[in-house]
Amino acid sequence: MIKNRLFIKILVTYLCIIISTLAMLGVLLSFLLNNFFIYNKQMEMRVKANDITKLVKPFLVNKRDPAELIGLLNLADRNLGTEIWVIDPKGFVIAAAADQQAHEGNLVDAADIRDMQQGKVSIRKGKSQLYDETVLWVITPVVEENNRVIGGIIMYSPIIGIAQTMLKVRNLFIYSAVVSILFSTVVVYFLSRYVTGPLQKINRVAKQLASGNLAERVSVKQGDEIGDLGMAFNHMASQIEKNEKMRRDFLADVSHELRSPLASIQGFIEAMIDGKDKTPEKRKKYLGILHDESLRLARLVNELLDLSKMESGSMDIVRESVDIAKIVQDSAIKVSTVVNDKKIRVYQDEPGQRVMVLGNRDRLEQVMTNLLDNACRFAPAGSEIGVRLSENAADITVTVRDEGEGIPEAELPYIWERFYKVDKARSRGQGGTGLGLAIVKHIIQSLGGRVFVSSIKGSGTEIGFVLPRSQ
Ligand SMILES: Nc1ncnc2c1ncn2[C@@H]1O[C@H](COP(=O)(O)OP(=O)(O)OP(=O)(O)O)[C@@H](O)[C@H]1O
Ligand SMILES: [Mg+2]
Repeated sequence: MIKNRLFIKILVTYLCIIISTLAMLGVLLSFLLNNFFIYNKQMEMRVKANDITKLVKPFLVNKRDPAELIGLLNLADRNLGTEIWVIDPKGFVIAAAADQQAHEGNLVDAADIRDMQQGKVSIRKGKSQLYDETVLWVITPVVEENNRVIGGIIMYSPIIGIAQTMLKVRNLFIYSAVVSILFSTVVVYFLSRYVTGPLQKINRVAKQLASGNLAERVSVKQGDEIGDLGMAFNHMASQIEKNEKMRRDFLADVSHELRSPLASIQGFIEAMIDGKDKTPEKRKKYLGILHDESLRLARLVNELLDLSKMESGSMDIVRESVDIAKIVQDSAIKVSTVVNDKKIRVYQDEPGQRVMVLGNRDRLEQVMTNLLDNACRFAPAGSEIGVRLSENAADITVTVRDEGEGIPEAELPYIWERFYKVDKARSRGQGGTGLGLAIVKHIIQSLGGRVFVSSIKGSGTEIGFVLPRSQ
């Protein structure tokens, strides 16, 4: 369908251009040629008429026998392909070639007589009393030495030859129009196939994609805009496929993360309903675990909500000038109260100095807690966790360094993705969901900063962020 429509549109356009160009050219050319031919013919007739006048003059001057004159005219007519009449000063035909003698004694056109009497040579074109067709005729006066007009000659010449030539030219144009129309139909056919082939492919694959067949791709290998379209289309298809996979993975991850606390809550409640070990201590212990698990669930749900708000851009983080040094100190103290087996030390270029950044206190605390929480979780007991706050003219940098197991280099780019855990089994055992760093990255980026990480497997990790200073 598409193919035919496009084919017809291009073809009509082509034909319009060809036909109008040829028609314009044809009209112009025939006009120019016609003028050129007639001009040439006129020049030629002037010369001939002039020669004949010289021959006729002695007859008129000496009033010689017209029979001789007629012999001369017969000869001239035959050789020049014209008709020649000799006229007296009043415009009466006094001699014509043998086949024209019936005209002798007639008066020629008044305009011709007037021109001749004034001694002018003139050329006219039109229907004459003599021929049916259009002819050219030239009137030349015969003048004596004292400038007296003693007669003249009229020479008629048909322009049928010119008309025939013009007809040939027109036919030539019609032939070439037909040939170029045929030729361009073939060209347009292939051109439209070249364009519509890939379009049809893309159309087909687009329908496949719409019906859920996301692995489908087009193979358009043209090195032009159509090829570009094919590539852009494939790129789009890949993005759709990727998004679809992300959506599916996300759902799987969320349900997976929800399942373990739910399962353990279920297990402990069942144990309590069973009532086998009903000692108050056991019950208290179970309730404590249930409380922990429900907290974990609540945290997970909150973090997911936060993340989805940040990802959809619907979370506005209020920006104000805050003292990052204080936030770092406070979060270090807060985490220290929960973690007793590791020392957390804060290093600052100028200790005690306020360092102002544009940010949000609660969100930056959330960032610090996440980073410190990770460091504590992966560092060995008794080791030191260092937090360094350094500043320069444009921005500040906060780095959290631990002496833990580190992160393999190949995993480094992925740790910022949600639900990503290097050691899946172990992290879950330790309560991680893999959302912490994803949240950190979103917060820092929405504050106009960037995150970084470097790690040496086995000897520790340095992770942190850079934020612009508030002026
Ligand atoms: N300091 C660190 N040392 C070693 N590995 C780390 C460190 N920080 C992060 N990782 C790795 O990066 C993964 C992602 O960290 P992230 O904070 O996003 O998730 P989590 O800590 O596992 O879970 P959550 O923070 O949601 O409780 C972690 O599971 C861990 O494998
Ligand atoms: Mg974490």
